[in-house]
Amino acid sequence: MNHHPIRQSEEHALSRRQFSAFCACAAVALAAGIPLKRKLLVPPEADQAIAVAQIDEIEPGTAIQFDYPSEGHPCILVRFSEEEFTAFSSSCTHLMCPVHFEASTAQFVCPCHHGFFDAKDGSVIAGPPRRPLPRYEVTLADGQILVGPNLIQAKVTS
Ligand code: FES
Repeated sequence: MNHHPIRQSEEHALSRRQFSAFCACAAVALAAGIPLKRKLLVPPEADQAIAVAQIDEIEPGTAIQFDYPSEGHPCILVRFSEEEFTAFSSSCTHLMCPVHFEASTAQFVCPCHHGFFDAKDGSVIAGPPRRPLPRYEVTLADGQILVGPNLIQAKVTS
């Protein structure tokens, strides 16, 4: 029989090394991950409004997607009535899945973990998200729908 004796002190030293490496990796991941997650969940600052569509291009009770303030930052604009519009970042505040508008309930629905947001103010109705969807101001001018640049605060549910 072929024996490969492992001294107990070496075995413990290896375990301590592995544990130290694990702790170092976890610390790096935490240090890098948490600010990154926070950064991703807050939309970049917008410095000017953009024209998203002509007013008559969107029927009441419907929504359109657009990117704002730059490409790769999906947003959603909803028209509730002749003059009532809302615009939000459409990245769920839980883990960034895209939300979609459900006209029958006037809610944004996140299919990933069943998050629900009020489509009028972006507040959380149900599910794992804790923060409202970032909401942009909407202005109507010269037949156009302008979005941004200011964010509007919504109530935070705990
Ligand atoms: Fe939206 Fe989890 S990513 S509920």
